[in-house]
Amino acid sequence: MNWPIVKGKATRQAHVALPEGTFEEEHGREGFYGRVSHLYHTHPPTGWTRIEGPMKPHAFYLDRITPSDMTDPRGTPEPVLYNDDLVLSISRRSEPAPFYSRNADGDELFFVHKGTGKIETDFGVLLYEPGDYIVIPRATTYRFVPESKDTFIVVVEAHGSEILPPTPEQKGLIGMHALYDTSAMTIPDFIPYDPKQESSNGKEYELRVKRLGEYTSIFYPFHPIDLVGWKGDLTAFKINMRDIRPVMSPRVHLPPSAHTTFLADNFVICSFLPRPLEEDPDTLRVPFYHRNTDYDEVLFYHDGDFFSRDNIKPAMLTLHPQGIHHGPHPKALKANPNIMRTNEYAMMLDAKHPLKIAPAGESAEWKEYWTSWQEKKAEAATA
Ligand SMILES: [Fe+2]
Repeated sequence: MNWPIVKGKATRQAHVALPEGTFEEEHGREGFYGRVSHLYHTHPPTGWTRIEGPMKPHAFYLDRITPSDMTDPRGTPEPVLYNDDLVLSISRRSEPAPFYSRNADGDELFFVHKGTGKIETDFGVLLYEPGDYIVIPRATTYRFVPESKDTFIVVVEAHGSEILPPTPEQKGLIGMHALYDTSAMTIPDFIPYDPKQESSNGKEYELRVKRLGEYTSIFYPFHPIDLVGWKGDLTAFKINMRDIRPVMSPRVHLPPSAHTTFLADNFVICSFLPRPLEEDPDTLRVPFYHRNTDYDEVLFYHDGDFFSRDNIKPAMLTLHPQGIHHGPHPKALKANPNIMRTNEYAMMLDAKHPLKIAPAGESAEWKEYWTSWQEKKAEAATA
């Protein structure tokens, strides 16, 4: 079913030459892939005066969350958001784990906001640094060994199938090397296990397995990663944000799906990175308003200036639930004609099914965030 109906004032093409005094909303299905109408409002749809009821936009100061792994080497990451498909947690491990880990509940994606170190895995060693996306396949044995004390990692556990880069078919017309060439991905450096390093003094090694959210420790008299070789096409891998090369068009604002980094069952991960903005004076330069019909939108702000959002700083996270509008803040809308490039580094997670907020998220919430589209209150919050 595909009918181009036009009623009243509308553009000839989406996001271009909006009728004078209007605010465009993209009202679509299936993220940015399904059927869609563009609605031309006379007021920004985020111009509410009051919200009564449980649904509103949320923002969280994640650096106010102190997971138990921050101070206790035996500690764990702290969940912030979750649904049946995924759990988003924060890990701030400051000491090497005194155990090996295995997550039987799902693939894990680690986005490194701060800190350096290494992860020992069945497949070898991966060094990590800020801006890294690291994917560890479900049930891989690994151990985190931070070098710095300031490690701050956003962890996404995927309960469905694998977390994978877009396939050449999914990249479609923009070509298989767009967004990032998969050759820029790093796989672990394999170092064969040397049995001579095995201790003969009765040392015990702990392997902690997560299954159905619970931990079971399995103990061995030998090293849990005692591999002298491996073969195959399943391995851990990483890509750094600096190696992602965003696509843009000088003449039309592209939807967030153009910035897809990974896909998993019922969620996608996108990266918003520094790039020139649209140069055509008729073209919208800020994200269009939308009401997230089929996805909850989560954004983690890693670094830079977040031009479409006021009062958002690195290490904050926003959650825009399905059904309520979001779009540019009033200040960004006014600056629209003057801004020529973005300087933002942010990770987006779009979840097909509604997310719930865990207690740690609730405790770190900026409760007035929903007022930040009201010009006066947004300015007061800056003061
Ligand atoms: Fe959005």
